[in-house]
Amino acid sequence: PQGGEMGMGGMGNQHMDHDDVAALDSSSGDNELNIPPVLKSDSTEETKYTVRAKMGETEIFDGTKTQTYGYNGDFLGPVLQFEKGETVTINLINELDVGTTFHWHGLKIPGEADGGPHNVIEPGEEDTIKFEVTQEAATLWFHPHPDGDTSEQVYKGLAGLIYIEDENIKELDLPDDYGKNDFPLIFQDRTFDEDKQLNYDAVMNEDGTVGDVSLINGTVNPKLTVGQEKVRLRLLNGSNARNYTFKMNTGDTFAQIATDGGLLNEPVEMEELTLTPSERAEIVIDFSKIDDERDVALVNDSDDILLPFEVTDEAAAEIDIPDKMNQFSVTEAEKDLPVTKEVELFGMMDMVTINGKKFDPERIDFTQERGVTEVWEIYNKPDMMGGMIHPFHIHGAQFKTLSRDGEAPPRNERGWKDTISVSPDETVRLAVQFNDKGVYMFHCHILEHEDNGMMGQIKVE
Ligand code: C2O
Ligand code: CU
Ligand code: CU
Repeated sequence: PQGGEMGMGGMGNQHMDHDDVAALDSSSGDNELNIPPVLKSDSTEETKYTVRAKMGETEIFDGTKTQTYGYNGDFLGPVLQFEKGETVTINLINELDVGTTFHWHGLKIPGEADGGPHNVIEPGEEDTIKFEVTQEAATLWFHPHPDGDTSEQVYKGLAGLIYIEDENIKELDLPDDYGKNDFPLIFQDRTFDEDKQLNYDAVMNEDGTVGDVSLINGTVNPKLTVGQEKVRLRLLNGSNARNYTFKMNTGDTFAQIATDGGLLNEPVEMEELTLTPSERAEIVIDFSKIDDERDVALVNDSDDILLPFEVTDEAAAEIDIPDKMNQFSVTEAEKDLPVTKEVELFGMMDMVTINGKKFDPERIDFTQERGVTEVWEIYNKPDMMGGMIHPFHIHGAQFKTLSRDGEAPPRNERGWKDTISVSPDETVRLAVQFNDKGVYMFHCHILEHEDNGMMGQIKVE
């Protein structure tokens, strides 16, 4: 089990039982939440960004500097905005002292620009990618993906967000005033040593590294000041391994409006919501309906306080979240398709495999034709210790969840997804289609499992 004294050599040899993960310290609410900057285009005529991976120093705790990594800054990264239909150019610069890649998680992008383990940029080198944005409005993210070194680089701070906009979302009445009633929340858990440093090697766990310190957008002990209005929160589980279950400490419900890859057809009222690593969800909390005499906070399933809210009496124009937001559907033809790809997730620690094999950059595991939908069946095979949830992710695509153990997925999963949690002994069926050609990864998004080879490759032709 997790917790207790940490010996030399860290926790690398302890199996991560997810029912028994170290508790998170509750936020004292001392610090106003950091809101990431929105990256400006290098050009007024076209969307052109420069993204630099760099080393930095960040005052996470008052009076001490923590060595961190960041994109275009010391820690984490800016928000990149794309518009459906436009062509985007990104100049990628590696200012780290190790090789890295720039992976666009959830983006439909040609394989050579996807930033998988084959696209390493060496220290001091740069590269340029150019692609067309073909998918609908969504909140995606970007992070490094070098073979065997993803977990450490993300742990040190390499992660940023991508917002895609389209015509549909601009017409809808949704909270969309960035930093006012529309906030990104990147949830991560970390362990700091006595000198308040992130010593990855000392705390690394082969089964997924967790920490006791909760950071949101890199802020420790955060609070968020909001008005008495509907507020949209774009949640990203950006942790290496921890599952987060979100709920309100008041017992109030919230509305989920989006999944990983786009808006749900209609808002889904939720009492709680679980996101496994790399999953996103957008939720709307109506602070005009919550009794502001009480302390309002977003908490996890152990009632640890993640984000306390300070509700001002500022009231804003009433926003009516529309009942019809999108046109997502699973067709009869898709429901009738036979299973043509089988994926078996198995193992723990450094013995994790997919279909009995570990990642081999020289081996192509599957092929699929672009534009053709295939049904992938993902099975999480339990082991002697019962097994654990694996968040299964596919690059270069957004998929539809057809079923969980033969049943229709819950209402809040009836939307585009790129990562799906698969519980021990559970079978999940996905309808998967790729837009572009290239070699793409599919893997468990517990980053240490990914680095330990719980990853395969599909060649799209
Ligand atoms: Cu979030 Cu292989 O990626
Ligand atoms: Cu990805
Ligand atoms: Cu896993």
